[in-house]
Amino acid sequence: MMHPKHERFRVLVLIHLFVSLFGTRHLVQGDLSYSFPEEMKLGFIVGNVAKDLGVDLNTLSSRKARVDIEGTRKRCCDINMNTGDLITSDRIDRESLCGKKPSCVVKIDLVLENPLELHRVSLHVQDVNDNPPKFKKNLIEMEIRESAEKGSRFAIEEAHDADMGQNDVQRYVLEKNDNFILSADSKRVQLQLENNLDREKQKEINLLLTAIDGGSPQRSGTVVIHVTVLDANDNAPVFTQAVYKARVQENAPPETLVITVSATDADEGVNGDVIYDFGHVSEENLDIFSLDPKTGQMKVTGVIDFEETILFDINVEAKDGLGLTSYAKVLIDVIDVNDNTPAIYLNSMSSNTPESIPPGTEVGIINVQDRDSEKNGQVRCSIQQNVPFKLIPSIKNYHSLVTTGHLDRELVSDYNITITATDEGSPPLSSSKTIQLSVADINDNPPVFEEQSYSAYVSENNKPGSTLCSVTARDPDWRQNGTVIYSLLPGEVNGASVSSYLSVNGDTGVIHAVRSFDYEQFRSFKVQVMARDNGSPPLSSNVTVSVFISDVNDNSPQILYPAPEGSSFMTELVPKAAHGGSLVSKVIAVDADSGQNAWLSYHIVKATDPGLFSIDIHSGEIRTQRDISESDSMKQNLIVAVKDNGQPSLSATCSMYLLISDNLAEVPELKDISYDEKNSKLTSYLIIALVSVSTFFLTFIIIILGVRFCRRRKPRLLFDGAVAIPGAYLPPNYADVDGTGTLRSTYNNYNYDAYLTTGSRTSDFKFVSSYNDNTLPADQTLRKS
Ligand SMILES: *[C@@H]1O[C@H](CO)[C@@H](O)[C@H](O)[C@H]1NC(C)=O
Ligand SMILES: *[C@@H]1O[C@H](CO)[C@@H](O)[C@H](O)[C@H]1NC(C)=O
Ligand SMILES: *[C@@H]1O[C@H](CO)[C@@H](O)[C@H](O)[C@H]1NC(C)=O
Repeated sequence: MMHPKHERFRVLVLIHLFVSLFGTRHLVQGDLSYSFPEEMKLGFIVGNVAKDLGVDLNTLSSRKARVDIEGTRKRCCDINMNTGDLITSDRIDRESLCGKKPSCVVKIDLVLENPLELHRVSLHVQDVNDNPPKFKKNLIEMEIRESAEKGSRFAIEEAHDADMGQNDVQRYVLEKNDNFILSADSKRVQLQLENNLDREKQKEINLLLTAIDGGSPQRSGTVVIHVTVLDANDNAPVFTQAVYKARVQENAPPETLVITVSATDADEGVNGDVIYDFGHVSEENLDIFSLDPKTGQMKVTGVIDFEETILFDINVEAKDGLGLTSYAKVLIDVIDVNDNTPAIYLNSMSSNTPESIPPGTEVGIINVQDRDSEKNGQVRCSIQQNVPFKLIPSIKNYHSLVTTGHLDRELVSDYNITITATDEGSPPLSSSKTIQLSVADINDNPPVFEEQSYSAYVSENNKPGSTLCSVTARDPDWRQNGTVIYSLLPGEVNGASVSSYLSVNGDTGVIHAVRSFDYEQFRSFKVQVMARDNGSPPLSSNVTVSVFISDVNDNSPQILYPAPEGSSFMTELVPKAAHGGSLVSKVIAVDADSGQNAWLSYHIVKATDPGLFSIDIHSGEIRTQRDISESDSMKQNLIVAVKDNGQPSLSATCSMYLLISDNLAEVPELKDISYDEKNSKLTSYLIIALVSVSTFFLTFIIIILGVRFCRRRKPRLLFDGAVAIPGAYLPPNYADVDGTGTLRSTYNNYNYDAYLTTGSRTSDFKFVSSYNDNTLPADQTLRKS
């Protein structure tokens, strides 16, 4: 390989020799020039200077041939004294000797002594492709924004090759890749973007660039170009779902996580930082949810009410740092929670329900509402147990309140009906409402007297207007239907209207006497009192009021026999032979009163001869106390007082004339006992009656005495004092008693019996009545019942 080169060098050396032969010959004998490639091994024979200079080889050493290097440069060549060759004594690198100079000439001086000769030798060092192209660094870092336009060029620092010319860098080769080619402009090394970069696909690209020189053999150098694709905000964030669906319970507490939305942004750094926010949100949904800008967590912040909103349709937005946005929808279903209690509304209610309505009558309509849905909104209604009402479900949420039984205002006038509504949620909610229902009155109760019958007791001679008793009737009805008015039912007492006896206070039921009553006239009577309410029509009831009049000692005894003082002409004959104890006469008195008031006692208050006669205190029989003697005055006068037993007692007195004689004619004074023509007819009737009765009785007694006379020598009884009492003589008020004479009443009989128990043998009443029974059966005025 070296031979052709050597041939060339020889030619050049010859030329130089020629020049030097015909140039400066003296001091500088001639210049030699050699050309040789660099980097030859040590001892490389550059040329034979001995021969070229025509110096005898044998004299070389004697002439001290040597190479002088200019300056301080390293000795690079030497002369082989034996051969006369100029040989390299050091590595000769063209690039270090001459750098990038196009020709590299190293000049050395060849010195010979005896004679001194100086030869200049030019060493032309020729380039050899001993250096590969070289890039400054092994790795070139580049950053290219992904948004770089197609066709953009990016300069690359050129590779360097120390060699020259052809051996220098001739071309570059870029390893095949998707994005870059080498620019067509060959002056500079430039990458040209052929296909757009996408950081999101490939964020780093390694390119292998090779620089190739023109040497032979070729040498090359490579560099790795590391392209970092810089992000451009070319990607909007992308939500993981276009529509997010979530469910949330109503009334979920704040901070409840509803859903997390997520968007990814393929970009990097700020370009890839996604910030979440709500899209357009209606005013009312504004405060209900919050969206964390960073995490995308959607939380509850407000009150979610199923009854207001069952579905939220919310737009969310994801935005990256430089403002690219995308949107998604969040649909939130609200789950109903049983949070609404049922509400009970009273739709219609008859304000006043009459007590007369039949069972099953509708009295009200109730509407029940629950805002919850489904089961939570299904409501059952119930009513408390102890009222006569029930609920009947009607259309939809309506219920009728109907009665189940008869109402009676007088038993229960007001009902508090409690209605409870319960929904079917879990847990169920319930509410209740109390309805007040008042039962209206119907006049269905007559007044009722407190007593079956009433009795009033009043003493006779009462003051007109005095209160006898009061009746009370009750009517449980309301107001006028229960207002009781009392009145006397028309009727008669003794032929006179009851109203002339009694009056009743219409309001109070107090019964007053209208007149003064007289026991001796009548002892009792009955009236009917009606209690009537003020309803329409009115209801009434009747009661009997019995008025019993009690006796007052208002009648003094009336002496029937002998006739009262002043009109007395009667004289009793007392036989001279009368023994002590003989009945001589009897005072007969009656008292219109009854009982104690009519219990009479007889007393002799004055006598001509106090020791002669005595009177039986009970019977009024006057008897001799001792035998009549001759010395006794013929005319005996007794004043007898008859007292009743009333309080205070009343009394009457009479005079009794007794004539002790056997013969009426012996009594001259008898004529003095004038027969008063002016005496009332009554007196004469009495006399007639007395005489006839006496005759009758005397006959009867004589018969009895006749029987007794057989045993007794001396008659003891001349007069057994039975006196008939003519009805006409009785006080007029006796006769007035209408069939219920005072003597007849049980009350009186009782007193009468009591009287008998006192031990008296007879009584005036017994006497009178027995007398009437037997002797005056036709007399209607004194009748025994
Ligand atoms: C009904 O309720 C009212 C008011 O709460 C009360 O005054 C009244 O006594 C109650 N009536 C009944 C019958 O319980
Ligand atoms: C009394 O009863 C009648 C029906 O008998 C009724 O119409 C009226 O309203 C009642 N009066 C009162 C005050 O309740
Ligand atoms: C009460 O007596 C009156 C008059 O005799 C009569 O019209 C009325 O029906 C009686 N009332 C009753 C409840 O017996």
